[in-house]
Amino acid sequence: MTHVVSENCILCKYTDCVDVCPVDCFIEGPNMLVIDPDECIDCAVCIPECPANAIFAEEDLPGDQLAFIKINAELARANGWKALTKSKPALPGADEQNGKPGKTQHLQR
Ligand code: F3S
Repeated sequence: MTHVVSENCILCKYTDCVDVCPVDCFIEGPNMLVIDPDECIDCAVCIPECPANAIFAEEDLPGDQLAFIKINAELARANGWKALTKSKPALPGADEQNGKPGKTQHLQR
C-alpha cells in the first residue's frame, strides 16, 4: 500500500503536502508532485493538507484515478524529478485550475 497523488494536483502543485511528510517521499515534476511508493509509510498526514484534495490512500482512490498508481511509481523515478522537502508557492493560476476536469492531458513529464 501507498498513498497516491491524483489528477487534481496537475497545474496546481500547492506543495502544502511536503511540509508534513515525515519521510520526504514527495517528488516534484514541472506541474505535479508524486509520492514515491517505496518511501511512503502510509501515515496519511498529507491528505488533509492538500487544498486540491488530490491525495488518497491507494485503496481509496476513485475508480477514474487508478492510473495514477502507476504514474506516481513511474514519475518518482523519472529523469529530472527530484524530492521536494519544503513547500513553495503554488503554480500561477492554481486556484482557477483546482477542480477542473481533464487535467491529465496537461501532465508534464
Ligand atoms: Fe499537489 Fe496537493 Fe501537494 S496540489 S503538491 S498534492 S498539496
